[in-house]
Amino acid sequence: MDVHTNIPLKNYLTMKLGGSARFMTTATTADELAEICRNARKQNLPFFILGGGSNVVARDEGYGGIVVRNRILGFEVVQDTAASVTIKVGAGENWDETVAKAVDMGLSGIEAMSAIPGTVGAAPVQNVGAYGQEIADTLVSLEAYDSLEDRFVTLENSDCGFAYRHSMFRGDQAGRYGILSVTLTLYKAAPTPPFYEAVQKYFDEHNITLYTPLAIREAVIAIRADKLPDPKLLPNTGSFFKNAIIEQWQLDDLKKTWPDIPSYDLGDKRAKVPTGWLIEKAGLKGQLLHGMRVHDKNALVLINESATSYADLAAARAEIIGKVRDMFRIQIEQEPLEI
Ligand code: EPU
Repeated sequence: MDVHTNIPLKNYLTMKLGGSARFMTTATTADELAEICRNARKQNLPFFILGGGSNVVARDEGYGGIVVRNRILGFEVVQDTAASVTIKVGAGENWDETVAKAVDMGLSGIEAMSAIPGTVGAAPVQNVGAYGQEIADTLVSLEAYDSLEDRFVTLENSDCGFAYRHSMFRGDQAGRYGILSVTLTLYKAAPTPPFYEAVQKYFDEHNITLYTPLAIREAVIAIRADKLPDPKLLPNTGSFFKNAIIEQWQLDDLKKTWPDIPSYDLGDKRAKVPTGWLIEKAGLKGQLLHGMRVHDKNALVLINESATSYADLAAARAEIIGKVRDMFRIQIEQEPLEI
C-alpha cells in the first residue's frame, strides 16, 4: 500500500475546504486496514477513516495523522428467508449503489435513504437517515477493526450507541474502530403507509398507489434533486446542522411567540424542532455569509460558494448559531464530522 504525504484534504471532501493530511493511504482489505491502524497506533499517530468525504469538514491546520480511504468492497446475501434477506456489504461500497441493488431485489428498508452521497461504512457513524428511515432500523451488526484491542470484532446493533444522527463511532469511541462491513436485514413485504409527508405528497401528485421500494426510491430521488444541491456541482455536506432536540417546556414557551413552530414529539418530554425552520425565521435563508450560501431551498444546507478556508465556514457557522441562539435560545449543532 502506498502512503502519500501532505495531501490537500479539500480534494477529498465535498465541502472543498480545509488544510492537508500529513499522511494519506487507501485500504482495500480488512487486513490492510488493520495493519495501517496498528502501525499508526504504534507511532502514536491518530488515524481517520474516510469514506466519500460528504459528511466531513477539515480545519485549515489540516490533519496531523493518517487519513485512510476505505475501499473495502463486497456485497453478499448471507441469509434468505420467506420474509427477509440479510445482506453483508463492504464498508467501501458506494451507499446509493447499495440501495439501488437492494431495491432491484425488491427489498424494503433502505429505499427512503436513496441518493445520499457517501459510503456504506460511513452510514452507521452518523446513523444516516432520511424520509422516515435510518440505518439503525435495519442494521443487524457490523464488522470492525478495534484498534484499542488490536482485533477484529463483530458489533451488534445495540453495541453501536445509535441515536439521532449519532453513534458511539462519532461519540465516546471516536477514533477506536475501523468499520469493515455492515450487515442489514431487509424485507420482502411491500412498504406500507404512513409515509413521510413529502413522499406521500409526491405519490398523490403523481397518482401513485402501488407502493414499492422502487416507487419510494424514485420519489425520494426527485424530492432530493429539488431540495438538496448536488455536491458535485455545488460544494456542500447535505444538512450542515442537526435538527434541535429541546425540552417540551421550552417548546411550550416558544409557541407563545411562534405558534406555528413545527415540532415532532419524541415521547420523553422532549421534542425535535427543524433547524431549517429556525434558520429561515432568523432571516438567513438564501444569505451569503463569508462565502457560504445558506441554501435558498433548504436553510439546513450550507453551500461553499466562494469561501476559501475553514475559517470562512467557521465565521458563517458562528453567525448562524449566534442568531438562532439569540432569537430562540436554542443551541444548534453541526452535523458533519470535523477533522
Ligand atoms: N423547514 C423550513 N425551512 C427550511 C428547511 C426546512 O421551514 O429551510 C421545515 C420544513 O418545512 C419541515 C421541516 O423543516 O416542516 C423538516 O424539513 P425536511 O422534511 O425537509 O427535513 P430536514 O429536517 O430539513 C432532515 C434530514 C435530512 C433528510 C430530511 C428528509 C437532518 C439533519 N436532516 O432534514 O438529511 O434528507 O430530513 O428526511 O436530520 C442530511 O442529514 O444530510 C440530510 C440531508
